[in-house]
Formats: sequence, C-alpha cells, structure tokens
Amino acid sequence: MENSTSSDPTAIARLGAIAEAALQASTGGAIGTDPDLAPFAAALRYPLAAGGKRLRPVLLLATVEGLGGDVQAALPSACALELIHTFSLVHDDLPALDDDSLRRGLPTTHIEFGEDVAILVGDGLFALAFRLIAEANETPAEVRLAVLAELARATDGMVRGQYLDLRPVANPDEAWLRKMCGLKTGCLIEAGVTMGLALAAADTQTTESYTAFAAELGVGFQIVDDVLDATSTTDTLGKTAGADVANERSTFVTVLGLDEAQAAVERSWQKTERLLAALPGNPAALAAIAKRIYHRDR
Ligand code: IPE
Ligand code: IPE
Ligand code: MG
Ligand code: MG
Ligand code: MG
Repeated sequence: MENSTSSDPTAIARLGAIAEAALQASTGGAIGTDPDLAPFAAALRYPLAAGGKRLRPVLLLATVEGLGGDVQAALPSACALELIHTFSLVHDDLPALDDDSLRRGLPTTHIEFGEDVAILVGDGLFALAFRLIAEANETPAEVRLAVLAELARATDGMVRGQYLDLRPVANPDEAWLRKMCGLKTGCLIEAGVTMGLALAAADTQTTESYTAFAAELGVGFQIVDDVLDATSTTDTLGKTAGADVANERSTFVTVLGLDEAQAAVERSWQKTERLLAALPGNPAALAAIAKRIYHRDR
C-alpha cells in the first residue's frame, strides 16, 4: 500500500476463525433437532458449511475491534450478516435468477435439494439471521434494535439491487452500474461496517468516515467480482466463470469492456485507500480486508 494506513493481514485469519466457530455454534441449536425436520436442517446448513470467504462477518468484527468494542458480543451480528449473505447467494443461484449449478465449490442448494427446498432454505436463513440478533440478550436492547435496523436496511437494499440486475434500464452506464452494484452487493458489505459501528457505539464523525469507506469498498467488491467472472476459472472461483455473459447481465465488464472495468477497479481501490487513511480508531484490519477484496483471485 502506498498510503500511511498500516495493514494487519493476520487479522483476517484470526477474525475469520472466530467468525467460523461462532457460525458453527449458532447454526447448531438454532436450526433445531426435530427428527422430521432433520433433512431440512441439513439443507439449511449445506450452503453455510460449504464455506466462503466470510468477508462480511470479518469486516464487522474488524470494525468493532478497531473501535475498541466487544468482539465477543458482536458475534451474533457477525453470524447474522453471513446468514443473510448466504441466503442471498442461495436465491441468486436459483433457476429463475442466475440459474447457477456451482457455489462455494459445491453443487448449489437447489441442485442438491430441489428448487422448492432451496427457496425455503433462503427464507429460513433470513429469519434465523434476525432471530440471532434479537435473542442476543447480552447486548442492550437499544443496540440490538439499531443493529437489526442496519441489517434490515441492507437486506432491503440487496433485494432492490437484485431487481435492478434482473430488470436493468435500457442503456446502462457507469453511474447506473455503480448504483446497482452499490445496492445488490454494496449494502451487505457496508452492513459489516455499519452494524459494527452500531455495536461499538461510534460517534457521528466516526460513523460518517467509516460509512464513506464502506460504500466505496462495497461497489469495488462487485466490480472485482465482475472482472473475475470474465477472467478467472470455475475451479478457482468455486462458482461458474462466465455466468454474466451467459445470463446476458449488465456488468462492469459486459457494459464497459474488460479494460475499462479493470481501470474502474483501480480507481475504486485508490479512492478506498484515501478513505482508509481518514479513518479514526485502528483501521489496520480493515485496511488488510480492503486490500484482499481488491486483490483477490476468487
Ligand atoms: C459473492 O460474494 C456474491 C457477491 C456479492 C459478488 P463473495 O465473493 O463474498 O462469496 P463467498 O461468501 O466468498 O462465497
Ligand atoms: C449477486 O451478484 C450479488 C448477490 C446479491 C447475491 P452476482 O450474481 O454477480 O454474484 P455471483 O457472481 O453469483 O456470486
Ligand atoms: Mg446475480
Ligand atoms: Mg450470480
Ligand atoms: Mg458475479
């Protein structure tokens, strides 16, 4: 990195392991033990157990930790965000949407369990997410309410972005692409930061600077995803490469071309670095996560 923000790459693995353990624990009991529902419990766990980069819960925990908040108390929120993200993937892959057969290196949930069950898995993960936060009794009720509001707002934004993706305007341009990506992907990335800010009881100025950083990071995340869809392989991605062209989607690559999309990644990374440099607290873990997001291969 060329700016002065120090970066702590070890934090990604450390916070990732904490998030992973919490996810295992919270989806154990809460998913239930009714023998008649055991196959559905297995279906609910399936897209989660397949793994994933867990970047959203790690972002949340890194925000809380960097602002001196309580990482342990943030775990239900971190898990909830990963559940919402996973629900969005299960539904994104459905035949009616992107019709994808591979996710996180495994057959998609509807391929494994049927389309009917996959719709219910998405619904179930959605509900469980909000329940995890609502029932986190060690966190004061007003904080839980603020976190729930952030997650609800972000989920609503993701859904609206998915709508724009499915029903784009006639002539999408870069401004429209940024808006669509900011919603479908940016909202859940931003939620990692905004839920963290709520948990750490951040002041207004801190909230503004962290939110500006997260908004650019969220758009950048999807531009990179669009570039990887065009340049990487199914093996590396663990999901089908070339899906955007196959689905005639309007992406940074299909609308602007690969060179311009790659230039947009670079511009977004530079802007994110500038916004990082302005963050109070200790954003070293966030700097490492941002660097990973812009420079990943899957
Ligand atoms: C994939 O998100 C969906 C997009 C918003 C582009 P990730 O790339 O974070 O997927 P996982 O969680 O690692 O599987
Ligand atoms: C979807 O974007 C983002 C979501 C809200 C799930 P993509 O359709 O590009 O995500 P991938 O490439 O299937 O992961
Ligand atoms: Mg999609
Ligand atoms: Mg997709
Ligand atoms: Mg994609």
